[in-house]
Amino acid sequence: MGLGAEGYLRNAWYAAEWADAITGALTSLEILGERIVLFRTDDGSPVALEDACPHRKLPLSMGRREGDRLVCGYHGLTFDSAGTCVAAPTQSAPPKACVRSYPLAERYGLLWIWMGDPAAADPARIIEIPQWGAPEWGYNRGPVMQVDCHYLYVVDNLVDPTHVTWVHPGSFGDASCAAVPIETTSASDGVTAARWLMDARPAPFYAKFLQFAGAADRYQHYEMRYPANAIIKAVFVPAGTGGHGAPLHSHAFCMDSFNFLTPVNARATRYFWFQLRNFAPQDAAISEEFTADVRDAFEEDRVILNAVQIGMDTSPTPTIDLKNDLASHRFRTALARMIAAEG
Ligand code: FES
Ligand SMILES: [Fe+2]
Repeated sequence: MGLGAEGYLRNAWYAAEWADAITGALTSLEILGERIVLFRTDDGSPVALEDACPHRKLPLSMGRREGDRLVCGYHGLTFDSAGTCVAAPTQSAPPKACVRSYPLAERYGLLWIWMGDPAAADPARIIEIPQWGAPEWGYNRGPVMQVDCHYLYVVDNLVDPTHVTWVHPGSFGDASCAAVPIETTSASDGVTAARWLMDARPAPFYAKFLQFAGAADRYQHYEMRYPANAIIKAVFVPAGTGGHGAPLHSHAFCMDSFNFLTPVNARATRYFWFQLRNFAPQDAAISEEFTADVRDAFEEDRVILNAVQIGMDTSPTPTIDLKNDLASHRFRTALARMIAAEG
């Protein structure tokens, strides 16, 4: 399968950065191939502007912030937080001098950026996380990870429950997961690949947290929402109590993993993630253990994905598809239609 969806969906919210990483200092990021400078004004409001002065295209991130304004580090053109040039030291501000400004919204500890038509930037379109902030759910997050591949190769990974057996044998997967087929379903907002693994030995990451002994029925839910947000749900219940439609056992382990992909360009992706779990909400040691274990496992994905990009770039022979590529294929096909509809 080639990429199947060229370009990017622009009318969408992407995770730009952890909200607490953007301060009064100037931060330069590349998102969807565009250079963007981010900072906070004196009252804490986040600002995102094109990171290129219209005069000689010096990155504005090489200049300095003065309150709500950015001063270019070459000849002093000064821009307000909407990107309009408000001062030019040796003349009146040139009327055409402006830089693009990007809508931002803060949610789930992240700063989200809207890369399309600013008039369409509705924060209600940011992914909904129903249990966010609920006191019975524990939270942990890890550092943003840069993967050196096209984001759609990360999508392959996040909508494919089968890879855990081979990529994560010491944490998320083991041989008992290998052969059970996947069920793929499509919705208006994305695609899900899921399966129940019945009467299985709990994989190492989960085993130490389960509140029951012995074999488990395990649910794997790998969901991708357009354009680049993954929700991965893991459920473990005592063997014999799981399966489609079964009520959730009182000792069920539930972990929802949220993975937000931000394309840097066609060869790099930033990957933001956090987990919500249905037990020990205040236990900082468990949160730290989750973060450390998940970071180690995602590092295993990163090694694979970096090598996939190199393989795709350099191998002269054609690729083949497997049955478990169905979810990714559907996702790419629908996303390509959405990108084409944006013109
Ligand atoms: S390059 Fe920015 S003012 Fe000249
Ligand atoms: Fe993985």
